[in-house]
Amino acid sequence: MITIRNFADSDYMALCELDAPMFSGMGGPVLFRHIQELFGDLFFVAEFEGKLIGYILGGVHLEDTTKGKLIRIGVCPGFQRKECGTKLTAALFERMKGLGIETVHLTVAEANVPALSFYKKIGFVQKEERENYFYPDISRLVLEKKL
Ligand SMILES: CC(C)(COP(=O)(O)OP(=O)(O)OC[C@H]1O[C@@H](n2cnc3c(N)ncnc32)[C@H](O)[C@@H]1OP(=O)(O)O)[C@@H](O)C(=O)NCCC(=O)NCCS
Repeated sequence: MITIRNFADSDYMALCELDAPMFSGMGGPVLFRHIQELFGDLFFVAEFEGKLIGYILGGVHLEDTTKGKLIRIGVCPGFQRKECGTKLTAALFERMKGLGIETVHLTVAEANVPALSFYKKIGFVQKEERENYFYPDISRLVLEKKL
């Protein structure tokens, strides 16, 4: 059974190893430390038989605390399409609602068809496209969902 719980400091090494092949060159080890310190309540991992198989990172806007962000989600390839992503987002959104967050947004590459399908399936709608969002010339779609 897949279980979801908050990230713990002892997960750090295993999480970095899980992340590396999925988000190569996208700074996971640095990002995890920042999110742990700033938004620890919005940092969840998924486990199967004691092994980490996925994670989700959330955040909240300080200038408008009704607005949250899904910063990153990753499920290791062997466990995709087994509802792990759905469970991770459900845990994050439940926690966000408890904090008074009303809308959540994210960005995704247009070419990432699996992620786009996933986000649309769980209720996100596309709001805009941002040119040059990431260095050096990477555009992203902005999606939003009401909680
Ligand atoms: C996107 C991701 C998190 C989805 O996680 P997941 O655990 O596989 O998703 P779920 O099993 O909960 O899928 C729920 C639904 O989303 C849709 N979906 C998920 N993966 C899909 C895929 N590869 N192709 C088409 N639809 C997909 C389906 O409708 C699916 O329901 P179904 O399996 O009954 O058809 C996962 O594919 C992943 O980690 N990808 C690599 C990292 C990544 O790109 N992250 C997003 C960066 S913006």
